[in-house]
Amino acid sequence: MRISIIGCGYVGLTTGLALAETGNQVVLVDVVEEKLRAVEEGRSPFYEPGVDEMILKHRSSGALSTTTDLGRAVEGSDITFIAVGTPSREDGSMDDTFIISAAKEIGDALKTKDGRHVVVMKSTVVPGTTWNTIRPLIEENSGRKAGPLLGIAMCPEFLREGAAMHDSLHPDRVVIGTMEDETFEVLDRLFAPLDSRILRTDPTTAEMIKYASNSLLATKISFANELSRICERVGVDVYDVMEGVGMDSRISPQFLRAGVGFGGSCFPKDVSALRYLAREKGVPTPILDGVMENNEIQPGHLVQVAERTMGGLKDVKALVLGLAFKPDTDDVRFTRSLPVARHLSSLGARVAGHDPKATENFRKEAPPEMSFFDDHEEGLSWADVVFLVTEWPEYAAIEWERYPNIRAIFDGRRTIEPASVKDIAYWSMGSPLPEP
Ligand code: UGA
Repeated sequence: MRISIIGCGYVGLTTGLALAETGNQVVLVDVVEEKLRAVEEGRSPFYEPGVDEMILKHRSSGALSTTTDLGRAVEGSDITFIAVGTPSREDGSMDDTFIISAAKEIGDALKTKDGRHVVVMKSTVVPGTTWNTIRPLIEENSGRKAGPLLGIAMCPEFLREGAAMHDSLHPDRVVIGTMEDETFEVLDRLFAPLDSRILRTDPTTAEMIKYASNSLLATKISFANELSRICERVGVDVYDVMEGVGMDSRISPQFLRAGVGFGGSCFPKDVSALRYLAREKGVPTPILDGVMENNEIQPGHLVQVAERTMGGLKDVKALVLGLAFKPDTDDVRFTRSLPVARHLSSLGARVAGHDPKATENFRKEAPPEMSFFDDHEEGLSWADVVFLVTEWPEYAAIEWERYPNIRAIFDGRRTIEPASVKDIAYWSMGSPLPEP
């Protein structure tokens, strides 16, 4: 099939690559020419394992092309995916600016196009958006009604950054939210080669499935984190506790890793948007409120334990290892390293940071007095105290005995084996509290 994808971010690009891989002709559309230029040159506009190779493969096979001309892309395709950003506004509500302008332009392009066209919402949007906002805009601008000539669907994306290519090619499930049988059949055929479970539903339920999934995953993490603070006081290790809890097949061991909290572009944004929607509808959300409140406690808690253990952090050289919100990405959106660095700064520590990929992105937000090391070994030779905030594999391989200057390590992500540290005080979140 001929596919156009509006938005060349994580979701758009990896969806496009997965569809190229399964035998479709894909054109990527973006207003940011730099992103498209990167794809044309065979590289990903962001750091993501495996994406460069897939771009090169499908640039040379001719299955993947790019353009800034949305109208022409829509005209030359049978299905258009909307995969533009839906960031949070200050008040937690979803900013729909980009999806609205995409819908209008798609509608305009359809005015002169012959034949049936399917528009699929892939961006994460507040339940009701595709059917109540996007469909009418496309209808108005194209002069067609949803039905025989215009298909409307919502297919949420469940990929994880750092594993985006794998998740796009092997999704746990594909959710197709549409009111029309014909649209379902076309999308069912399109996604069939992914060999995944397919769920048919309506667009608004599909949108809610996405919010509910991310909110439940965030809830599991916040639950593990709350439990971890209790376990620390009781004198047991939350990882041992969660191992036993996760053996219950009704619960599963996934997303019960306690630590410094969740970050990224999705969990905080989606939980906030769902709370905002509930507030608008007059529905109280004590669980979701608690999920966010609990997440904010963790970075401060890590630093507080360090302060108590060290007897103060003033003028202490504190190295934050890991600035990305998780390993295998250069994404720093809502990274927990930022509140950790700010807390350390406010207590008078001399803060420095290191990340294998994300330093440049982090610098823009960092406390002005924070410095950075290109090489983590240099940072380790400088530091008095180390805070592990992102579990990059190279940090797990550090030979700690080479750094006698380091007095203590505070691990926010269970990054290293305690046995690998001798003669240095080591504490990992969720384990019994250290003696002051
Ligand atoms: C998340 C979901 O996992 C994806 O299914 C979803 O498609 C995506 O959001 C999205 O909506 O686009 P992502 O944000 O890329 O994916 O990363 P995750 O691997 O879910 O991690 C999110 C955060 O939670 C990270 O900061 C991670 O360190 C933290 N986390 C994760 C924990 O603190 N504990 C855990 O047990 C798991």
